[in-house]
Amino acid sequence: MKARTAATIALAGMLASIAALSADYLVMRYRTPGDERILAELQKQGQEDSSKAKLLDAEHKRITDAKLARRARTEWLAWALIACSAAFVAMAKKVAGEPVAPALPKPVAADVRLRWGAGAVLGDPADLSAVDEIVAREGRGAEAAIPILQAIQAHYGFLPDAALQRVCERTDITAGQIAGTSSFYVRFRQTPVGKHFVRVCHGTACHVSGARQITEELRRSLGIGEGADTDEGRLFTVEEVACLGCCSLAPVLMVDDQTVGKLTPGAARDALQSIEPKERA
Ligand code: FES
Repeated sequence: MKARTAATIALAGMLASIAALSADYLVMRYRTPGDERILAELQKQGQEDSSKAKLLDAEHKRITDAKLARRARTEWLAWALIACSAAFVAMAKKVAGEPVAPALPKPVAADVRLRWGAGAVLGDPADLSAVDEIVAREGRGAEAAIPILQAIQAHYGFLPDAALQRVCERTDITAGQIAGTSSFYVRFRQTPVGKHFVRVCHGTACHVSGARQITEELRRSLGIGEGADTDEGRLFTVEEVACLGCCSLAPVLMVDDQTVGKLTPGAARDALQSIEPKERA
């Protein structure tokens, strides 16, 4: 059972125990004066009529039995409350230590891509002042881990080691929590990105029109090795994406915020080479 579910069950147990104890207490407060009145009345009648003694004994027995039952119930509920409280505290600690949330509030890469429009400038990984600003804005608790990592990635384009270390120094987030979160979500990048972001559409229309060959040609011409997505000069990062929404132009790619369609592998290579010389100048 997950810690979050167990904590919820324990909390429900705590609330139910408290509700039952409160209800028992209120019933006792309501009934006691009435019981005492009945006993006093029967005692008075017993002094005048000895036949009422039996009634008095029966009433005594009923009230005593009810008290004993209530005491046993109270003990049982108190133990249940203690057990549920202990379980809740233990599970809450576990939940607070969990490094990941079930889902990202929004796609991390989308933030990065938006910043990669024409003229966008990514932060210098050697300058950590942005990390301090991000921590001041997002908070220092474990719950701020994802927003902080998202903001760092949006600023630098990836998660620099020095920036992550700074987060550990400035927050209550441990290195283990950061490592767990950043490795869980594939959109968090551990390596730097290129200056330009190339998205090759691999949606159905583009796939049947040769998207695979286009990607392979771009990777080959840029010298991007197996397992990498960015060329050595960090000019281009090439990524395969789902439908870009202009299937009639298939096969399609986007360089930063510009769309190029009806491509061949050679035309795709030329599109990047038309940018590359300017960058190398
Ligand atoms: S499948 Fe490529 S744009 Fe739709």
